[in-house]
Amino acid sequence: MIGEVANTMSFVFPSSSNEMTDEEFRLFSLLVYEECGINLKIEKRSFLQNRIVQRMKATGIKSFYRYYKLVTNDEGGKVELLAFLDALTINETSFYRNKPQLDLFQYSVLPEILSKKRAANNFTLKIWSAGCSTGQEPYTIAMILNDVMTDIKGWKVNIFASDLSLTALEAAQQGIYPKEKTEGVDEASLRRYFIEKGGNVQVKDELKRLIIFDFHNLMYDNGFSHIDVIFCRNVMIYFDSQTQKGVIERFYQCLVPKGHLFLGHTETLQGVNDNFIFIHKNKGTAYQKK
Ligand SMILES: C[S@@+](CC[C@H](N)C(=O)[O-])C[C@H]1O[C@@H](n2cnc3c(N)ncnc32)[C@H](O)[C@@H]1O
Repeated sequence: MIGEVANTMSFVFPSSSNEMTDEEFRLFSLLVYEECGINLKIEKRSFLQNRIVQRMKATGIKSFYRYYKLVTNDEGGKVELLAFLDALTINETSFYRNKPQLDLFQYSVLPEILSKKRAANNFTLKIWSAGCSTGQEPYTIAMILNDVMTDIKGWKVNIFASDLSLTALEAAQQGIYPKEKTEGVDEASLRRYFIEKGGNVQVKDELKRLIIFDFHNLMYDNGFSHIDVIFCRNVMIYFDSQTQKGVIERFYQCLVPKGHLFLGHTETLQGVNDNFIFIHKNKGTAYQKK
């Protein structure tokens, strides 16, 4: 469908300036929505335009129309489509983001999961950081697990950390951060889990080996199952309600019974999915599969 409209666009809306036409905005925003669920409203027009112009410069393409033809070309456009979507992602994140919520995880949810598993002689734990950006969220989870699980060596722990942005994933995998970006991490954890490197700190292998970083677009199923806890924080805000419903249904399917889901503090399941119970403690909130 997008391809058909694009063919007419070449006659009606040829634009080679740095200003997108209304039709070009409509087509690009539809493409972004269909590919990754990000819902770019009209207020985001200049943001979208700037990012396209960046990619046009990087690829040496001179018009919005030609760039659109490239990213919608099934043969050779897939790599550039990924780079384009990557350029649109907002990767803002930090260590120990939303501390009350992480306290709920550390002091209530996690101990309860661990004691049930120990009683059942089940020493596997699977956590998914969906939309992990540059890694601060999965590394925070790994620090919490290490702090709480004194017997962690006897467990099979996997933190799956996924994102749509390949540049964010690359940074996450490296695990090198400017020291001033670690303000959420207390001194003891900084010493225990990081190595100082000039003005930067690098995450130690002790944490890294708990995490598997991988590309994943939340618009699609990834075959995960038996996940104990999902963190998908500050990702759904970019999606409309239809996309949110699809994402949450896939989360529901891959969680264990009574599995937990942590969303960002402005995100809610109200009107999205009724199959979770809302839990909260001391300003920390989460959802639990019924
Ligand atoms: C604002 S960051 C949130 C990072 C972290 N979860 C946190 O709360 O600090 C949002 C992340 O969601 C990712 N994202 C957006 N749409 C996505 C999609 N369709 N599939 C996977 N990741 C997506 C972006 O690339 C970005 O890294």
